Amino acid sequence: MGLISDEVIETVRLRSDIVEVVSRYVQLKKKGKYFTGLCPFHQDRTPSFTVTPDKQIFHCFGCNTGGNVFKFLMLKENLTFVEAVSLLAEQAGIAVSSNESPAEREREHKWRRLRQINSLAMDYYYYIRQRHDAAARARKYLAERGISGDILERFMVGYALPDWDSLLLYLKKKGYQAQEVAEAGLAVKTENGKYYDRFRQRIILPIWDAIGRVVGFGGRILDHSLPKYINTPETALFSKGNLLYGLHLARGAIREKGFVVIMEGYMDVISAHRYGITNAVASLGTSLTREQGRLLTSYNKNIVVAYDADVAGVAATMRGLDLLQELGCHVRVVNIPDGKDPDEFLQKQGYEPWENLINQAPSLIEYKLQQAVSKKQVRTVSDKLEVMRKVFPSLSVITSEVEVEENLKVMAGLLNSSPETIAGEFKRYKANKRKKWTYPDNIAKNKHNILNNTKKPSAQEKAEAGLLRLIIEDPSLVVTIQEKLGPEPFSNNSYHKIFKHLHEAINKPVYHFAELFNYLEDDEQTLLSYLLTLEIPGEDRNQVMIDYVECISRCNRQERRMMLLQEISKAEKSGSHWHDLWREYSLLRRIVEAERLGDRKRTANLLQEYQQLIKIDICKHPREGSDGS
Ligand code: UTP
Ligand code: MN
Repeated sequence: MGLISDEVIETVRLRSDIVEVVSRYVQLKKKGKYFTGLCPFHQDRTPSFTVTPDKQIFHCFGCNTGGNVFKFLMLKENLTFVEAVSLLAEQAGIAVSSNESPAEREREHKWRRLRQINSLAMDYYYYIRQRHDAAARARKYLAERGISGDILERFMVGYALPDWDSLLLYLKKKGYQAQEVAEAGLAVKTENGKYYDRFRQRIILPIWDAIGRVVGFGGRILDHSLPKYINTPETALFSKGNLLYGLHLARGAIREKGFVVIMEGYMDVISAHRYGITNAVASLGTSLTREQGRLLTSYNKNIVVAYDADVAGVAATMRGLDLLQELGCHVRVVNIPDGKDPDEFLQKQGYEPWENLINQAPSLIEYKLQQAVSKKQVRTVSDKLEVMRKVFPSLSVITSEVEVEENLKVMAGLLNSSPETIAGEFKRYKANKRKKWTYPDNIAKNKHNILNNTKKPSAQEKAEAGLLRLIIEDPSLVVTIQEKLGPEPFSNNSYHKIFKHLHEAINKPVYHFAELFNYLEDDEQTLLSYLLTLEIPGEDRNQVMIDYVECISRCNRQERRMMLLQEISKAEKSGSHWHDLWREYSLLRRIVEAERLGDRKRTANLLQEYQQLIKIDICKHPREGSDGS
C-alpha cells in the first residue's frame, strides 16, 4: 500500500463506523438490517442509497456506486485513498506509521519532515510579510491590489526577503538540513554544492492539497519583470497538475452552491473570496490536466469555466472543456468582456455584474458555436458544415437527450437552418463515428451485464454471482470450487478479478471482506458492493454452494455440447475423424436425459464416467474441471 501498511488500514477501517461517517453527510433511516437515505452522489428522489452496518459497506442502487468507508470519504471529500485512511486514522487516534517496514518508516519520517518544512516556511513567510521592515513594499503592493485583512490570513499570504538564505537559516535553526529544504522545493542546490533560497523578494502564496495541508508555494514578483511567478517544482508532496488552488477552502461552498467555478490564477481565486465567491478554484496555469478534471468531477460535475479572456485563455478553455466534457461534466463558460480576467473584472465591476455573467454563462456547445461563428461569417453550406464539425464532437458525448435537443435548437438558430436539418446532420455524424470508433468499452459492458440489467440475468449469471457471494463470505471455499470448476471458474472478467483477490486472501491470518475494497479498481468495488447486497438463499451454505456449482457445470456442459455438435458437423464435412467427439457428445446427452428424469444415481454415475473421459482427453478442454457431487 506504499505509505500505510495493510494492518494499519484494517485497524482504521475496523475502528471507523461507516454509519457514523456517512451520517455526517446523509440523513439515514434505519430499515431492518439497512440504513437508507438519499444518495449524495447523484440526484436522488427516492432513497436508493443504502448502508449496511454489519458489512460496513454502502451501495447506491440508483447510480451503482458502492464501497467501504474509505471509498465513501474519497468520493465525498475528494480524497485519495491514503488521504481518506489518514483522515479516519486521525479521528480514531491511530498512528498511521506504526508496524511498518524500516524502509517505509524512514520514508514516512522523511515525508513528515517535508511537511513540517512546508508548514514552518508558510508561517515564516507570513510573519515576514506582516512584520519585517524589508516587507514594506510588499505590504504596499498587496494593499494596492486590495488584498488585506482576513483575506491575507485565509490565504496565508507571505513575503520572501531579498536575501539568498534567510529561509535556509531559519530552518537550520529549527533543525532542518539544507538538503531537506531543497527536497521540499524551497531551496536550490548549485553546481558546487551550495544551497540558496528558491523564493526571494516575492509575494508568497502557499498552495494546499484537498484536505488543507501545505504542499507547495507560488511566488509573485512585485513589478513587471519576468517570470511573473515561480512555483515549487515537482516534489514528493507537490505535483502542480494534480492540485487545484483553493479547493480546500471551496469544498463546502461547492456543495452548497451546486457548482464550482474554475479560474486560471491565484489572484483570481483570492479576489473571488474578497467578493464572497468561495466556490472558486484555480488550475494554476493555462491548461487543465486530466487529473485536475477528475479531482473536480468527483466533487461536482457542474462546472463553470472562467478563464482569462486573452488568446491563451481561450485556447486553454477549449482544451479544458473538451476534457471536462469527456469526464461527463455539465460545462458552462463565462465570457469575460474586454480581455479581462476574473480578478480585474470583479475589481472594476463588482459582485452583481459577475453574478450576471455566471448566470448567463452559455453551455459549452453554445460557447463553441459563438466562437466558431464569430471568427467568420457563416453563409455557405460548407461554412455551416465546418461549424458543425467543430461542435458535434462535444455534442456527441452528452448523454442527456433533452440537453442534446436543446443544443441542436440553439445551433439551428445560429446557423439559420431548421432544427430538423441540424438534427439530421448530427445523426449522420454519430452513425459515421460509430463505424470508426468501435473499441470495446469494457466498463460499460460489465456494468450493463451485471448491474443495469434490463434483460433478465441468465441462470449461469445468477449462479456465478451467488457463488462469488459465498466465496466473499468464506474464501477457504476457493480450493473446493477450483477443484470442481477448474482454475478459472467465472466467465465474467470482473468476477475473475475479485476471485483472484479472494484466492490471495486465503493466506492471510485475518480476513474481512470489506478489506477487499482496498485492492480493487472502481468498477470491481461497485460490483463487490452490489454482490454483498445479495442474500444467501438458505441456511446450509454447503448445499447452496453445491447447487450453484452444479448449475454452473450444467451450463458449461451445455455450452460444450453445442460446440461439439458444430465440430462434429465440420469434421463430417471435411472427412476427418469424429468418433471421439461423438462419444463425448452422446455421453453429455445422456447426462441431460438423466437429469431431466430426476434420476440422481444415474446422473452421478454418468458424471463420473464423463470425468474419466475428460481426464484422458484433458488437453482438449482444459477449462473444465471435475464436478462430482
Ligand atoms: P496570470 O498571468 O493570469 O496570473 O497566470 P494571475 O494569477 O492573474 O496574477 P496577476 O493578477 O497577474 O498578478 C495564471 C496562473 O498561471 C501561473 C500562475 O499559477 C498564475 O496564477 N503562472 C503564470 C505561472 O506559474 N508562472 C508565470 O510566470 C505566470
Ligand atoms: Mn491574471
